[in-house]
Amino acid sequence: MKQIRTICLASCLLLALSCQEPKVAGTIGADAEVERRVDSLLSRMTLSEKIGQMNQVSAGGEVSNYADALRKGQVGSILNEVDPVKVNEFQRISVEESRLGIPLLVARDVIHGFHTVFPIPLGLASTFDPALVEEGARVAAVEATGQGVRWTFSPMLDIARDPRWGRIAEGSGEDPWLDARMAEAMVYGYQGRQLDATSMAACIKHFAGYGAAEGGRDYNSTFLTERQLRNVYLPPFEAAVKAGAMTLMTSFNDNDGVPSTGNVFLVKDVLRGEWGFDGLVVTDWNSMGEMINHGFGENRKDVAQKSLEACVDMDMMTYGYLSHLEELVRSGAVKESDIDQAVRNILRVKFLLGLFEDPYVDVEAGKTVQYAPEHLAAAQKTAEESAILLKNDGILPLDPASVRNILVTGPLADAPHDQLGTWVFDGEPAHTVTPLRALQERFPGKVTYVPGLVFSRERKARFDDVVAAARRADVVLAFLGEEAILSGEAHSLADLNLKGSQSELLAALHATGKPVVATVMAGRPLTIERDLPHCRALLYAFHPGTMGGPALANLLLGDVNPSGKAPVTFLRTVGQVPLYYSHTMTGRPYNGETLLDDIPLSAGQTSLGNTSYYLDYGAYPLFPFGYGLSYTTFAYSDITLDQETYPTDGTVKVTFTLANTGKRSGTEVVQVYVRDLVGSITRPVKELKHFERITLDPGESRTVSVGIPVQDLAFVGLDGVKKVEPGEFQLWVAGDSASGTPVTFEVR
Ligand code: GLC
Repeated sequence: MKQIRTICLASCLLLALSCQEPKVAGTIGADAEVERRVDSLLSRMTLSEKIGQMNQVSAGGEVSNYADALRKGQVGSILNEVDPVKVNEFQRISVEESRLGIPLLVARDVIHGFHTVFPIPLGLASTFDPALVEEGARVAAVEATGQGVRWTFSPMLDIARDPRWGRIAEGSGEDPWLDARMAEAMVYGYQGRQLDATSMAACIKHFAGYGAAEGGRDYNSTFLTERQLRNVYLPPFEAAVKAGAMTLMTSFNDNDGVPSTGNVFLVKDVLRGEWGFDGLVVTDWNSMGEMINHGFGENRKDVAQKSLEACVDMDMMTYGYLSHLEELVRSGAVKESDIDQAVRNILRVKFLLGLFEDPYVDVEAGKTVQYAPEHLAAAQKTAEESAILLKNDGILPLDPASVRNILVTGPLADAPHDQLGTWVFDGEPAHTVTPLRALQERFPGKVTYVPGLVFSRERKARFDDVVAAARRADVVLAFLGEEAILSGEAHSLADLNLKGSQSELLAALHATGKPVVATVMAGRPLTIERDLPHCRALLYAFHPGTMGGPALANLLLGDVNPSGKAPVTFLRTVGQVPLYYSHTMTGRPYNGETLLDDIPLSAGQTSLGNTSYYLDYGAYPLFPFGYGLSYTTFAYSDITLDQETYPTDGTVKVTFTLANTGKRSGTEVVQVYVRDLVGSITRPVKELKHFERITLDPGESRTVSVGIPVQDLAFVGLDGVKKVEPGEFQLWVAGDSASGTPVTFEVR
């Protein structure tokens, strides 16, 4: 036995000392032929040429500025060039004028559409419709590859539970299960179910824990335990790796003192070693260099070495690899075999994308796919499904026949740039159809437009013009929210109320006595409690993209019934951060205890508190995760399990009846949550384990069965091993995370 253990120890040591391919099979779908080609090319490369492949530069200006570096093979990838003629010139020099003719990987942040802009990713998640999201990612890939882009820095998988963080806009919200399904959808959509010339390598980012930035301040440190990482923040990445994501990007943050770009545990041990990821790992913009700022490295040579030791393959914009790796190899500080492994990962992606067969883009053909009608239709359908109806006293849907004079107002009513949202490089505002335009086209001569405020941050004391117009209108449609600049990277906010004088505008409109419907377009869940009394209905659209106008018009007029659900908790006040549905129970769970407003002003001590909540705002959200209304109503009944007890390798089969108890056809996002009542560590009060969209006609009911594999309830417990722990569980089937009555089962 001793002999076997020694051999095991030796091979683990070998693995631990280098970035050698783990014994686990690869994940990005390369076959023996691709591996043969990779090894053959690698064997002909000089050390300098290998290091050149590990260098990514942001292209800007004239191609000639880069020609010398390209000819020397010092660039493996460029980002930020989307002129197909220039892209072809970049490729031509690389392929025809360098010694080995290795094509470039051309990258771009295609985050929620290329030219045709879809709702921001938080809005994509609101659809709870992976198939539709995959379709949208496919559209983005067809348009982007049509201009030479073959690598996108998307999807972002960062779990976000702090809406102060501006990049909450860019991910799929607070829940790992929803995030993972959205990640898979976007990976399949970008790359295609079969690789071809429209395949665009996905890049899952930012690895890892970036969304837990302390204070919600972007780039700030995070302090996630390994268990929290493994149970909440890493599962979406693992799902995306299993879906075949070809690349991954490290994150800016240091977690528990270690910046991700130099984090051996995250990248080498977990991503490479445990998951067997053999795709390309790229740093985030200068995140290698920023490890000097973090105080994690002395200089660029030091941080270059630390990045390679973490098995990071490509350096975005630090030039650390290009400047120092050759010297580090010569000095014996790093092994050329680790450079070989990085270059293999890069070449593997290039071979899989077919770049060696055809590195060029058909410029004329690429023009024909931009803003194609079917692309715009997909964007509109996605915007329709992503909007969340948060309040409706019955004023919606508006009756088109009764419309004589609509007042359209607010800073987002006709904001073609801001409606597109954050992280839009190539979507052109000229193509945006705003709500104003959509309504004017729908009701020519019946729409009055008085913005009231031109920008979301604008402050005004009086609204005489818009109030006068409201008095003459039958109904007031107020489009409020955030300018695009208020969310996204580096755009964190400490105050989540509607900016500027928007709330005052809404109150002034409400004071006229006319019916007011508010639509909010934003990059995050804003704290809108104070605005709710001033509107009869409120539709929430996370920046809905190019076709947001027609989509919102169809929703407001009832051509489409809202089905969006909150992918993130809506807070009552920013002081409740962080507040999310899958919290732990604590020893003193909040149970709706008395709030300050509920007690009379009086002298003397009044017993208050004693549980985990805020005396002034409690610990319930304004709207919970998974919440969203419809123009119809749904009822759940007869929720039953096929067994009382399940083995750890079993499947819990839950059957229930869903009925449309209203007067309109509608789509319900059915959600299944599970709670592990007792564990070796404390567990969340519930976790989403399944969702599906079910469309029913008025009066229709359907009996549905759902299988939940017991293995989906596994978690990393006290012993650090991911497994299902036997015991009692609860299961809910409901339309949001705060509703329903649980049924129980046991795992033995
Ligand atoms: C940025 C972002 C990253 C993006 C990259 C390239 O700073 O953090 O998400 O893909 O730079 O633009």
